[in-house]
Amino acid sequence: MASKLANSGDEHQKLSPSGLPVRKIPGGYGVPFFSPLRDRLDYYYFQGVEEYFRSRIARHGGATVLRVNMPPGPFVSGDHRVVAVLDARSFRVMLDDSRIDKSGTLDGTFMPSLALFGDHLPLAFLDGADPRHASLKRVMIRLAAARMHHVAPAFGAAFAATFDGVEAGLAASGAVEFNKHNMRHMLDFTCAALFGGALPSNAIGDDATAKAFKWLVFQLHPLASKAIKPWLLEDLLLHTFRLPPFLVRGDYAKLTAYFTNVAAGVLDDAEKADPGSIPRDELLHNLIFLAIFNAYGGYKIFLPHLVKWLARAGPELHGRLADEVRAVVPTGSTSAVTLTAVEKMPLVKSVVWETLRMNPPVEFQYGRAREDTIIESHDAAYEVKKGEMLCGYQPLATRDERVFQRGREFVPDRFAACSDDDRRRLLEHVVWSNGPETGEATEGNKQCPGKDAVVAVGRLMVAELFRRYDTFAASVEETPLEPVVTITSLTKAAAVSAGHGDGKA
Ligand code: HEM
Repeated sequence: MASKLANSGDEHQKLSPSGLPVRKIPGGYGVPFFSPLRDRLDYYYFQGVEEYFRSRIARHGGATVLRVNMPPGPFVSGDHRVVAVLDARSFRVMLDDSRIDKSGTLDGTFMPSLALFGDHLPLAFLDGADPRHASLKRVMIRLAAARMHHVAPAFGAAFAATFDGVEAGLAASGAVEFNKHNMRHMLDFTCAALFGGALPSNAIGDDATAKAFKWLVFQLHPLASKAIKPWLLEDLLLHTFRLPPFLVRGDYAKLTAYFTNVAAGVLDDAEKADPGSIPRDELLHNLIFLAIFNAYGGYKIFLPHLVKWLARAGPELHGRLADEVRAVVPTGSTSAVTLTAVEKMPLVKSVVWETLRMNPPVEFQYGRAREDTIIESHDAAYEVKKGEMLCGYQPLATRDERVFQRGREFVPDRFAACSDDDRRRLLEHVVWSNGPETGEATEGNKQCPGKDAVVAVGRLMVAELFRRYDTFAASVEETPLEPVVTITSLTKAAAVSAGHGDGKA
């Protein structure tokens, strides 16, 4: 992006292409080694992520493009220095593949060991301009489209299993952690939806989710916090060195054996469609990454946020959702809710988009400037040098009140009570999938190819919930990774509870 000069009295002020003054990026990295360590403690323990950024924005007069250290820092990060973009306008640069290079930036300032991925670099770590990216992404886009009609029935089964478990737990103890049931059944769902065949809980056994989760921990532990007490020990264990991959080798081998089996058809089809383009072993490890990291990892965070917002909204919204859902899908019907059915539910759709806006499940996007470039925020512009690492903290962009009125509030009707044009304009800024909600994944961009399936799953969740229940109550504890939602009561819909006691589970 070129810049120009404006003659403003006694000095020449550099202007951005749309006429904003170009300023020096505020903030800094402090004293080598010590400041990144101190910032890491602020980020994980003293302030928390959001306050870490908001306090620095306040310290620099409201500037939303800042130089900051990003944890984990020494010794896990190669280089912890980033330029953070923290408003809806400057965040756009993170979605512009022509301006940022995403090679190896999926996890930010550190790179997990390739030994965790069968010694292959998964697609999500490749830049969009890398020819291997197009070959792999083509397979993923094809797979997601071909399996779309399995999403609703597979989700219907997972939902029923999840809430049968929650009901049994409520009957036994009076309070049930939704996350635990979600974690168990969403792995089965993900594999059923993507591949069909035996479910991991049957083929691998009850500890399938534990194995998948452990493998995720070995990749992402430098970003986790408040999981182990005391925190000083946690900081040492999780944030200072990479956990050795051999400790998860046995679990990954079991997962690999399972996927070799269930994904055989996908691997065969890819070999036939594009002979010689991707070695079978490389594609297999990519499919494992797709299923467990991209898809399962995403649902594990997204669905608790969705249930959290529904719980907080309370019975009035529940009643409106139940009316909308039951006008399309009668409560007594036993078949799974379909994608065509949820398409006719504007309030359900709005609640799901609003959840993805308030809590994009993947909060950070990273990439390196391909060239010297100017980043524009609302009131000023900033020059970034080729090779500098940019980091977008998405919740601050998608809650930006310059784009979304009452942007920091959950407004269930936001995308229902507006004109089609306004909805489209707002959805341009709902970017949880690493691209606008109005866009789609292509071989050359970095947008999530599971985008439509994810939105569908959110809608199915709300529709299945309010077909089966009139209302529910839950307590919520926010934790750094995902909110822990503990369900304390479920009130069954009259037609469901007929013959099942008083309707309270
Ligand atoms: C709630 C669930 C999901 C969330 C939150 C999510 C989110 C994302 C995000 C943010 C990215 C971009 C990462 C980055 O480069 O910074 C991404 C990439 C990707 N997602 Fe998803 N995703 C989800 C489910 C799925 C599903 C179901 C699939 C299955 C098709 C999928 C496949 C992928 C793939 C293959 C990529 C890499 C794309 C590329 O590098 O070009 N995701 N996802």
